[in-house]
Amino acid sequence: MTTLIEEAALQARVKAVGQEISRDAQGEPILLLGVLKGAFMFMADLMRQIDGDVTCDFISVSSYVGTTSSGEVQIRKDVDSPLEGRRVIIVEDIVDTGLTLHYLQGILETRHPSSLKTACLLSKPSRRKTTVPVDYIGFEIEDKFVVGYGLDFNEQFRNLPYIAVVEGAS
Ligand code: IMP
Repeated sequence: MTTLIEEAALQARVKAVGQEISRDAQGEPILLLGVLKGAFMFMADLMRQIDGDVTCDFISVSSYVGTTSSGEVQIRKDVDSPLEGRRVIIVEDIVDTGLTLHYLQGILETRHPSSLKTACLLSKPSRRKTTVPVDYIGFEIEDKFVVGYGLDFNEQFRNLPYIAVVEGAS
């Protein structure tokens, strides 16, 4: 494995994203909705960088149902409270093909939040199979399989405080 994004660079970028989110919220309450498990570490650090009225909840989705091209996902653990009328920001670890996020945004829109935005720590734009809006992106990376800072390879390496590339895995 080789380090792709050092811990200090991660923390600096997360701080900047948190400040941007705080500015955009203009004092309105926001709900951060973390997608388990990969986003838990990003979510924890991001939330600490947001000033003002911020609450959190988590959702867990299955991997693709059926063919990968449909991108259909199922909710394994739903949010604890209604989203109606709230400013919601989905917090994801990485947007790769965009299929998971696209599907999740569709499901959450039906619950009528007053706004629905998305923050992703990482994005692999070259892998996109569908156009998906992402309002806050930490880093754009090449088509490499990465681990650390919550992201896993067979459940391993989530504990690394930095992002590393698993050579030969993509
Ligand atoms: P998408 O639906 O193709 O955008 O995939 C999204 C999900 O795939 C992410 O939430 C991750 O769980 C997983 N994933 C995609 N690329 C990577 C990677 O490089 N490392 C770890 N997980 C990844």
